Amino acid sequence: MRRSTTAALLALATLAFAGNSIAATTPADAIKYRKAVMSAMAGHTSAFSLINFGRVEHRDHLLAHVDALAALGTQLKVLFPAGTGTGDTDALPLIWQEQEKFGQLITASEKSTAELRAAVTTGDKAATMKAFKAVGESCKGCHDRYRKEDD
Ligand code: HEC
Repeated sequence: MRRSTTAALLALATLAFAGNSIAATTPADAIKYRKAVMSAMAGHTSAFSLINFGRVEHRDHLLAHVDALAALGTQLKVLFPAGTGTGDTDALPLIWQEQEKFGQLITASEKSTAELRAAVTTGDKAATMKAFKAVGESCKGCHDRYRKEDD
């Protein structure tokens, strides 16, 4: 009896905590988070490239980088909530004006990171090169249309 009360209380506390943290997310923090995830993707992409093209050793790190990229690829779809198009952001308003088209690019990016992971896991070099190119194109394709150009 006592045990289950404690468990129930703990469950409630966890829920309340989760509820609070969701309600407390400000657009500024959502933007910061988006940039942090994007930067992480860029880090894993560069690290992958340095290893894959033989500029550094560490082939045993390759899978960690593609695992991370594939995992982050699945997060893209929640990184652009409504209300995060203004403030300290380079995201263009067009994102929220053409959600369908933007969503297709997100899906393509998610797919390409998953394919890269699969190609590395099976050790297929040709498929790895092809998938890596597709990943790069998906980043660039989205940035070209939906991100402010660097000044
Ligand atoms: C579906 C669209 C989309 C895809 C796919 C995408 N990005 Fe981005 N990325 C953006 C947008 C929009 C911004 C601007 C975010 C902001 O300033 O709020 C951004 C910002 C960035 C930034 C700058 C972060 C900062 O600190 O300002 C980096 C680095 C980046 N992306 C890397 C990548 C890499 C690497 C990939 C592919 C593996 C990728 N992105 C895929 C849309 C995308």
